[in-house]
Amino acid sequence: MLGCRPEAVAQTSPSAVPTSAAALSIVPWPQSVVPGAGAFAVNANTRFGVSSLGGATDEARFAAEAVAVPLRLATGWALPVVDGPADITFALTSGVDTGEEGYRLSATPGGVTVTARTGAGLFYGAQTLVQLLPPAALRGGRIGNGAMAWTVPSVDIHDAPRFGYRGLHLDVVRHFFPVEFVKRYIDLMARYKFNRFHWHLTDDQGWRIEIKRYPRLTEVGAWRDSTLIGHYSNRPHRFVYERYGGFYTQDEIREVVEYARQRHVTIVPEIEMPGHASAALAAYPNLGCTAGPSKIEAIWGVFPDIFCPKEETFAFLEGVLTEVMELFPGTYIHIGGDEAPKTYWEASPLAQAVMRREGLKDEHELQSYFIQRIERFVNAHGRRIIGWDEILEGGLAPNATVMSWRGERGGIAAAQSGHDVVMTPSGVVYFDHYQGPRDQEPMTIGGNSPLEKVYAYEPIPDTLTAAQARHILGAQANLWAEYQETPSNVEYMVYPRALALAEVVWSPKATRSWPEFVSRLPAQLLRLDLLDVNYRYPRELALPPLGASQYERGRGDW
Ligand code: ACM
Repeated sequence: MLGCRPEAVAQTSPSAVPTSAAALSIVPWPQSVVPGAGAFAVNANTRFGVSSLGGATDEARFAAEAVAVPLRLATGWALPVVDGPADITFALTSGVDTGEEGYRLSATPGGVTVTARTGAGLFYGAQTLVQLLPPAALRGGRIGNGAMAWTVPSVDIHDAPRFGYRGLHLDVVRHFFPVEFVKRYIDLMARYKFNRFHWHLTDDQGWRIEIKRYPRLTEVGAWRDSTLIGHYSNRPHRFVYERYGGFYTQDEIREVVEYARQRHVTIVPEIEMPGHASAALAAYPNLGCTAGPSKIEAIWGVFPDIFCPKEETFAFLEGVLTEVMELFPGTYIHIGGDEAPKTYWEASPLAQAVMRREGLKDEHELQSYFIQRIERFVNAHGRRIIGWDEILEGGLAPNATVMSWRGERGGIAAAQSGHDVVMTPSGVVYFDHYQGPRDQEPMTIGGNSPLEKVYAYEPIPDTLTAAQARHILGAQANLWAEYQETPSNVEYMVYPRALALAEVVWSPKATRSWPEFVSRLPAQLLRLDLLDVNYRYPRELALPPLGASQYERGRGDW
């Protein structure tokens, strides 16, 4: 049955944390949900079981622990994970038709079984099971067992994602966020079945990834001497004159990559070129087209100081990308490509000589030459490039995937020419934009993208044929951090809008319903409260009270 309403499920016993509307409040809503009679009750003797055909028991165990750990903390019960079937079983099997990331979850009064063909499927089944339990299961601390019924309503769920690319992005350049927060960001997105984390690691205001071959990138490039105060459009510009920055060591990056891998999130690292390169050029001025000096920018925007198309620049970028590919095992390396003004190339005898040598008619073709050289290098190492839609200008590299951010036009053109596309149109899924009335919200870069607009987003434009539509791999929301200085600022911008996007990219189009999403939201907000997420409370929706919620405790403000 599709679109089953939460109120169809009986209320459990009274408790410190309310459970109303908690059951079947799943986000993103699964492909198919058939409620049954009764419920399975977890008790002090409940055992989790893992089974698999051969290897990959680690993945089954990780999925089981994703449910068992919070329940142990909430109940104080042992809840062991044992080999073989038990009361709550996670089974890897080839005999279930749920695709690469799908799962089947069957709950009856006698027990719960999650089956999938892959560890990812079991992990997503575990996330759904967590959402079938009372939100209080996420409290992270003991709740009197007499007060809570730890029940899972009987239900049969078949589930699989609509899109293979379900992304969230984080800019760690304009403001820097510590490893612990990056992990938390990944953990939260994985709970909502996102599977790609786009890590924006380099830009004009800092270089944030240790590269052993080029130590000045972080010794020099990771630190700026001042930062803009207030909005860019305020004049005159004012600055705080304080050294600001930070970077991730390669050990830290390996730790984050492994953390993400366990949660079935692939990281897409971004190394910007040829533009947004001021920090790299401040560290290695020889890579620019002018005598310099280059500056690590203290202000936001687009800057003319870009990588010069010299042989030493290509050698440098290949060295950087070699280390990046050693650190990040995913298929995609994001090479940026956006917002690269061509003024320095127009004035550079060297750049002009490259154009004559290669028979390029303008600087856009020179950028295309630049990106295609990088693509050949990346492809030769078994990986693929993805870039912002400006990489279409002057000719798209043969195997490139396009991230369409200036609306959908670039994505449509790319799909029509047979290239893969990730949709991330700035008018809808730029989570650095406003989500409520400007006079009631913290300062942002601008724009307007309330929750309902995100929920209504359809990643496949109707102008595409069915064959072209298959090139739309999915969608992603971006969080640029010019105006987000702290982790809690970031969470405020991303949640709950990420829940709306999760449903856009996971749930079947036919099951999407804004009123039903809204009816499932209170239980999800309660879960976010219990995870201490500083989400924005969607005041405009007049939701039923959340009980002991963040909002009603007077938190959740900027
Ligand atoms: C972008 O927002 N410059 C990709």
